[in-house]
Amino acid sequence: MEKKPRSKFSSKLGFVLAAAGSAVGLGNIWRFPYLAAKYGGGIFLLVYLILAFTFGYTMIMTESTLGRSTEKSPVGAFKYLGAPKWLRAGGWLNAIIPLLIVPYYSVIGGWVMRYLFIYLTGQGNTASKADAFNNFIGSAQQQVFWFVLFAILTMIIIFGGVKNGIEAVSKIMMPILVFLAIVIVFYSVTRPGAIEGVKYFLIPNFKQFSYKTVVAALGQMFYSLSIAMGILYTFGSYMEKDIDIEKTTKQVEIFDTAIAILAGLMVIPAVFAFDGGKNLNAGPGLMFVALPKVFNSMGFGRVIGIVFFLLVLLAAVTSSVALAESVVSTLEDELHFTRKRAATVTTTIMLLLGMLSALGFNVLSAVKIFDMDILSFFDFLTNSVMMPIAAIATCLLVLKVVKIDKIEEEIMETSEFRRRRVYRFVIKYVAIIFLIVILVTSILGAF
Ligand code: PHE
Repeated sequence: MEKKPRSKFSSKLGFVLAAAGSAVGLGNIWRFPYLAAKYGGGIFLLVYLILAFTFGYTMIMTESTLGRSTEKSPVGAFKYLGAPKWLRAGGWLNAIIPLLIVPYYSVIGGWVMRYLFIYLTGQGNTASKADAFNNFIGSAQQQVFWFVLFAILTMIIIFGGVKNGIEAVSKIMMPILVFLAIVIVFYSVTRPGAIEGVKYFLIPNFKQFSYKTVVAALGQMFYSLSIAMGILYTFGSYMEKDIDIEKTTKQVEIFDTAIAILAGLMVIPAVFAFDGGKNLNAGPGLMFVALPKVFNSMGFGRVIGIVFFLLVLLAAVTSSVALAESVVSTLEDELHFTRKRAATVTTTIMLLLGMLSALGFNVLSAVKIFDMDILSFFDFLTNSVMMPIAAIATCLLVLKVVKIDKIEEEIMETSEFRRRRVYRFVIKYVAIIFLIVILVTSILGAF
């Protein structure tokens, strides 16, 4: 099969920043802290770190290598490498996942926009009141309004084809985000009573360990590192051949994890300082409940609130654009849609599914799927069910079709490949069995 020349990232740094730009998003700032709070704090962090640096590492290396060597996104890569028909479905699964994530991602993106608006208009103190968040998600109009606004913003960028601007935005945004996060963390951990939260988040308590910790940490790892959703194949395919895959993987991994830990340190100590630790189980609303209290009690709280939510919004937009773009390009490449048609179809599905998630907290709040609201259900379906299967497909592709040696050769063309043993061990013996166990447990756990 002939290969079309592919546009590439402008520089090595370009790749790292774009990959980090898509990796760092709501997953780190919104999702990680609430899961860590819910699933035992330190023990969740520990399990997450172990998974990210062994399993996550292996998956990032594999996906970006497959993308780089085939210069294709997942559907194309599975086909090009000669996967049998049944396994090619795995390529499609990888490609379809973003289509199910981006709608509910946009609902949360809408929450961020709304909080930015609140701080811009100087109503930050109302956001720190008890029930402010529940009242907000309880209002169908508000939910739909902000969700649609965020979805439109994403699709304007996609339609406008200005996604190349994303690399530029990431370059400026990331350093400021890190700086601001450190300022907020510093303030948050020094509040009276916050130290209990710091301990809860950093010191593992093995009594809190359960299979749920592992299921949650694994799902979070996929989500946050953008694994098993086709994204890294696509990024790999844009990668110049001389890039050291191992080094870039390490940088992305460390950066992404660092941001998640900073977010944990912003949010969790605040839960203890302001609520005596009662809200640990708050779930998806945690950040929106905890941070306004922090901002409200600090000097320049309004400015900090504005800058913070603006940065989170940018991080969310870069991620949602990456997600939507991957759907659009699959439709273009594999189903030969025109770009306009592909973007229109994506937008329609995004609006329909996202609307369900947005209404799941109000008009449709009686609808519970396995005891979950609609947004949480989509989150569960993608992270805990579909992504493990998609990752199994990638592992099978490596083990059965491409063979590990081939992948290693490709990696070693440009990397020293220091963690080669870890890589081999994980992909050969651990990954598939572990994924199956997790998958079965998480499905059974849902009933
Ligand atoms: N990893 C991103 C986050 O943490 C989510 C994402 C997935 C973004 C895939 C882009 C592509 O929010």
